[in-house]
Amino acid sequence: MSKKIFSGVQPTGNLHLGNYLGAIKNFVELNNDNNNKCIFCVVDLHAITVKQDPKELKNNIRETVATFIASGIDPKKSIIFNQSSVTAHAEGAWILSCVARMGWLNRMTQFKEKAGKDKEKASIGLYSYPVLMAADILLYDATHVPVGDDQKQHLELCRDIAQKFNNDFGVKNFLQVPEPLIQNEFSRIMSLKDGSKKMSKSELSDLSRINLTDDKNQIINKIKKAKTDPLPMPQDIKDLDERLEAKNLLGIYSSLTNSSLHNSIKTFAGKNFSEFKEKLIEELVNKIEPISNEIKKLLRDKSYLDRILLDGVEKADLIASKKIERIKEIVGF
Ligand code: AMP
Ligand code: TRP
Repeated sequence: MSKKIFSGVQPTGNLHLGNYLGAIKNFVELNNDNNNKCIFCVVDLHAITVKQDPKELKNNIRETVATFIASGIDPKKSIIFNQSSVTAHAEGAWILSCVARMGWLNRMTQFKEKAGKDKEKASIGLYSYPVLMAADILLYDATHVPVGDDQKQHLELCRDIAQKFNNDFGVKNFLQVPEPLIQNEFSRIMSLKDGSKKMSKSELSDLSRINLTDDKNQIINKIKKAKTDPLPMPQDIKDLDERLEAKNLLGIYSSLTNSSLHNSIKTFAGKNFSEFKEKLIEELVNKIEPISNEIKKLLRDKSYLDRILLDGVEKADLIASKKIERIKEIVGF
């Protein structure tokens, strides 16, 4: 079946192994299937929901494009663009924010995590962030949205918004209700320093994550220093519930080698962590080093990256502006 794929990544720097295994790896596979139409968006409007340095933001937009391409997304076979250049996203977000309910947004756990203790000081954008995300997806009639596990709740909200819009305005099936595409086993990669925390761009310690721009020595160093426990490698999947760091590292290994967690456990059962880490390093270096080198190479040619964005913006705008015009008519403007 042909799928319409849409996904977004925030240009907030430090794209890491979690972004790669949770989302970008899946983008590449979907993009390789010629039946699919893929749109990958650098969501700069989402990025400014928390403070950004304007100069860095500009670089990070290019770096996100470079990461897509270096990871294997073919810009000739997909649309790659940045969100703020297609005005329908901001317009759509406003209209949909009049459809979405406070009660729905109040349940969003990402807002609670990101806003922290001092919710009063969080931006309004951070709160309504999932509505903008819904506009992104619905403007393109996306049928499938590949994301990491942390975005599951936002996608459910997007489905609710689409259904409510269709009901409220009596336009059955006008907004396409999208399906999430979330990897089942390894959809959440955890910090290398704490197996109970998500690997994240914003974590202070760089040792907590493998950045996609890390070189071989950095990868080796970070895996050698990655937290483990004093026991030998686990024998059984059940043991992992209490051994979060072992679970995460085995998950990373399994995802990189396209094997099941069950098989990876069998391969290393009872061995020392150091032996396992050697193998993990080998897989990581094989996968990440070429991506890292390619990102650095692409970043030296800014005009190439800008051309890709410009071309993508033109194509995306053609689709989104038609849809927003229909939305405005339906609403009564
Ligand atoms: P972001 O960097 O927040 O824009 O996320 C881009 C994509 O990476 C989204 O699909 C996220 O769900 C995914 N992602 C981010 N962090 C992780 C993680 N630690 N594990 C798995 N997926 C992740
Ligand atoms: N909120 C997503 C994240 O932080 C990024 C995003 C914005 C997105 N718009 C989207 C993902 C639309 C999928 C579809 O990871």
